[in-house]
Formats: sequence, structure tokens, C-alpha cells
Amino acid sequence: MIIIMLGAPGTGKGTVAGILSEKLGIPQVSTGDIFRKNIKEETELGKIAEEYISKGKLVPDNITIEIVKDRLNEKDVENGVILDGFPRTLGQAEELEKILIKDNKKVDMVINLTTPEEEIIERVSNRRVCSNQDCKAVYNVVLNPPKEEGICDKCGSHLVKREDDNPETTKKRIQTYLDLTDPLIEYYTNKGNLFTEVVSKNTKLGKQVAEDIVSKIKGE
Ligand code: AP5
Ligand code: MG
Repeated sequence: MIIIMLGAPGTGKGTVAGILSEKLGIPQVSTGDIFRKNIKEETELGKIAEEYISKGKLVPDNITIEIVKDRLNEKDVENGVILDGFPRTLGQAEELEKILIKDNKKVDMVINLTTPEEEIIERVSNRRVCSNQDCKAVYNVVLNPPKEEGICDKCGSHLVKREDDNPETTKKRIQTYLDLTDPLIEYYTNKGNLFTEVVSKNTKLGKQVAEDIVSKIKGE
């Protein structure tokens, strides 16, 4: 099963994808995580990606598509994958289709998360992520805090703030989303496999969103 997590920054793509990955037993592939790992390891890709990410812009399509193409060739995603943050442009969506068609595969479900903008800024500034690249658990110091302050519940590593999680860069990321990614809502609506969830502190938390999606997949 191939699932896409679509949504503006801070809408909960990573949170929901992580829960879905455990529940469905298929890997989560986040292009943002791949770029951050490369930035941390100071690779050539990391140097290029950092230039764009720090400005709230998208990494160019040709670079991003190559990375996803390689990742989708790995064995662990043979039976399914949750793509967290890819595709983000029409060009990426069309390329993904071409990559999948070669293996007789298709996108089965697109989960579109939406959250009011003021809540996004608040969430992102309260976000802490696990510094262990193999864990990458996501917390919110207000809504979903770790049991021990600054320490990951899952692996015991230190929690850190993401470099791009300041209000100024977040606003640019939201604008980039509106300019380049928002058109994908219409693209996937026309294909008939878009499922929208409003995620707000006034509605439901990531866990409930993921449970609703699992029920939908199982046809309950
Ligand atoms: P990426 O890492 O994907 O960042 P993003 O899209 O900005 O999204 P976030 O990771 O910030 O948010 P999220 O939706 O995962 O929310 P989360 O679950 O953490 O990309 C980073 C950068 O890499 C991009 O800006 C771009 O430069 C580049 N990039 C990545 N992919 C690319 C691509 N395909 N093409 C080109 N460039 C690309 O949740 C946020 C917070 O809210 C957390 O604190 C969480 O605990 C809390 N929360 C989650 N759900 C709920 C809920 N239901 N209620 C209350 N709080 C919640
Ligand atoms: Mg994320």
C-alpha cells in the first residue's frame, strides 16, 4: 500500500505517519528527515539542502526526485510505504506516478492534513524532536510532552528543536506550501484518492487521526 502524507508544515504529517507505520507495518519515508540526516552528516547533499531549508524554500525537484527514486528501490518498501512530505510539487507528483507505474504500483491513498495557520506557528515552536536519527520521535512540549523533560520516551536520547522551527522561517514554509504544494489537493482530488482530516487542538490529536485512517483503510 502506498500512502502519501500531504499538508502544510506542522500539520502532523510526521506524527501521523509514525503511528500509521507502526499500525500498518510499513516504513515511513520522510524527505525532510533524509535531508536533515545529510545536513547533520555534512554530506554534499546536506550542504545543498541546507541552503534551501534554512530559507523555507523547497529543495529543487531534480535532487529530491532522485533521492526518492533511490529510496523506493530499497527492499524494505517493496510491500508499501508512507511518503511523509513527498510529493510537494506537481512535477514531483507526476514523476512519482512514472516511478510507480514501472512496478505496476499506484498511490493508494493521499492523506491531506489541515490546521489553522496560527495553530501551526504555535505547534512548530513547541515541537521537540529526538536527536537520534534512527528514532526521530516527535513531541510537543504543551500537547504531547515527553515523560521526562528534554528526554525521548522511546530511546532516551536528548530532544532538540529543529533549526527551521522559528516563526520567521515557518511563515516562509507556509507560503512555499501555498504556492507549490497546495495545487496537489486538486490533483489528487481529481484522481479520487484524497482523504482530508482537520487536525486542530480543538478537534483531535495525532493518535486519533491515525486511528481514523487505519479504520478507513480496513473499511470499518
Ligand atoms: P519536513 O521535514 O517535511 O517539514 P514540513 O513539511 O515543514 O513539516 P513538519 O515536519 O514541520 O511538520 P509535520 O507536518 O511533520 O508535523 P509534526 O508531526 O512534526 O521538510 C523540511 C524541509 O525539507 C522543507 O521545508 C523543504 O525545504 C525540504 N523538503 C522536504 N521534502 C521536500 C520535497 N518533497 N521537495 C522539496 N523539498 C523538500 O507535528 C508538528 C507539531 O505538532 C509537533 O510538536 C506535534 O507533536 C504536534 N502535533 C501533531 N499532531 C497534532 C495534533 N493532531 N494536535 C496537536 N498537536 C499535534
Ligand atoms: Mg515532519
